[in-house]
Amino acid sequence: MIPRIYIPGDSGALALGAERVAKAVRAELAERGIEAKIVRNGSRGAYFLEPMVEVATANGRVAYGPVKPSDVKSLFDCGFLTGGHHKRWLGAPDKIPFLARQTRLTFARCGVTDPLSLDHYKAHGGLNGLQNAVAMTPSDIVKQVTESGLRGRGGAGFPTGIKWKTVLDTSADRKYIVCNADEGDSGTFADRMIMEGDPFVLIEGMMIAGIATGATKGFIYIRSEYPHAVAVMQKAVEIARRAGVLGVNVLGSPNSFDMEVRVGAGAYVCGEETALLDSLEGKRGQVRAKPPLPAHKGLFGKPTVINNVISLASVPVIMDKGAAFYKDFGMGRSRGTIPIQIAGNVKYAGLYEAAFGMTLGEIVDDIGGGTATGRPVKAVQVGGPLGAYFPRALFDTPFDYEAFAAKDGLIGHAGIVVFDDSADMLKQARFAMEFCAIESCGKCTPCRIGSTRGVEVLDRLAENIEPEKQIALVTDLCNTMKFGSLCALGGFTPYPVMSALNHFPDDFRPTPVAEAAE
Ligand SMILES: Cc1cc2nc3c(=O)[nH]c(=O)nc-3n(C[C@H](O)[C@H](O)[C@H](O)COP(=O)(O)O)c2cc1C
Ligand code: SF4
Repeated sequence: MIPRIYIPGDSGALALGAERVAKAVRAELAERGIEAKIVRNGSRGAYFLEPMVEVATANGRVAYGPVKPSDVKSLFDCGFLTGGHHKRWLGAPDKIPFLARQTRLTFARCGVTDPLSLDHYKAHGGLNGLQNAVAMTPSDIVKQVTESGLRGRGGAGFPTGIKWKTVLDTSADRKYIVCNADEGDSGTFADRMIMEGDPFVLIEGMMIAGIATGATKGFIYIRSEYPHAVAVMQKAVEIARRAGVLGVNVLGSPNSFDMEVRVGAGAYVCGEETALLDSLEGKRGQVRAKPPLPAHKGLFGKPTVINNVISLASVPVIMDKGAAFYKDFGMGRSRGTIPIQIAGNVKYAGLYEAAFGMTLGEIVDDIGGGTATGRPVKAVQVGGPLGAYFPRALFDTPFDYEAFAAKDGLIGHAGIVVFDDSADMLKQARFAMEFCAIESCGKCTPCRIGSTRGVEVLDRLAENIEPEKQIALVTDLCNTMKFGSLCALGGFTPYPVMSALNHFPDDFRPTPVAEAAE
């Protein structure tokens, strides 16, 4: 049997030099006259070990990482094709602590299979969910997804089954499934990882959504900053179409479903579902007033399911293993697993899929290993640029939608960005207001004008001009934005601002000039 070498080809690994490693491996194979198959798999998400090269041996896969091109010659000398020891040797990938402790349901195949091999996909349980779905009535599929407890992973945590039911119950000549792959939140990369590492799972999830709601056409809206994900998804759609998976008579059933990949033009607000729909329709991405809900009048005025990549990619396992299986993981009303993306100033950055319920402290200290700089953790921003900053005092908060909301925070798309004690929280608060001012779609006044005024107030605070007055002003302004904005961009910008102010008040009271001079 010819040896198989797995070298991740996803953006994360490529950014860390995977292409140069692949080139060095190819050159070494040629020089030594060894025939081997190189598979460009997705990453398993332990980015601190990327590029992580794996070889398939008689005793299972053996991993090496992080591999540099200069390691390649010595890897061959050490007999890495049969799992030989080397300074980069990591052993069986699923025994690496960062990976061994995870519960991989949605990301089960990511990093394991060849992303563009439909056979590989099927051999690892792919299409089982769809097979079950085509044998069920649409309302039974919706019921199963509802009972699993799956909630939208894009940010709002809205129950997926209920959204699907609204579309199922709305009659129309045409309905759509739209996948939101705009992934604009800071520190997030789960959507990108799964699209690049296991694209068929997203296609399968969208097809199940279509069959469940009566939609026959899907669109995946991917941000333009993700050229690799766009390329992989386009190829995967083509492969699925050629294999007869997508198209008419899905898996021999009377259902039809096809889909297209569309590329966004790069605005954070185009991740908001109605702005995304406008953008898909070829208009400027601007938030629509609700009602009507997209489930009633969405893309081109037709009933539309709009779901995040991870929400849709979690459906196949639910349809394969059942609602009870999925629901068994998690806590409270947060059921199943969530791919937590650990980023920023952190020692072990990467994607960690786990059941809901781990505390923030466990995630940052145990899994993330603290800061990369070795300095104390000062704050963690959870949920993207609109998420609150959590101080260490709140590290006992469990990763759960309601628990975070109770502490004036949000889970969002489950991205967490770690900051050490050198972070200036006044600057972070200003950054949040500035981000909102830049990204505002301009439709409503609290966001469009409020964010600009917010930057000015925080600038005056930084200059120590009547600090108490500025603090009162920014608090008042945040209330207006929170309750008066049309969408969550203006409505949630107060979260990072007020959490920074409330949890780190010292950063908002610059040292008096006389004291600083002493
Ligand atoms: C400013 C803004 C940006 C958003 N960006 C994204 C995004 O990049 N990806 C995403 O899935 N949802 C994003 N959302 C949430 C979407 O509006 C919507 O709730 C989501 O696509 C629904 O899918 P889900 O129910 O599967 O989470 C954003 C919301 C707002 C207000
Ligand atoms: S809150 Fe901001 S982004 Fe949202 S509709 Fe209003 S102006 Fe547009």
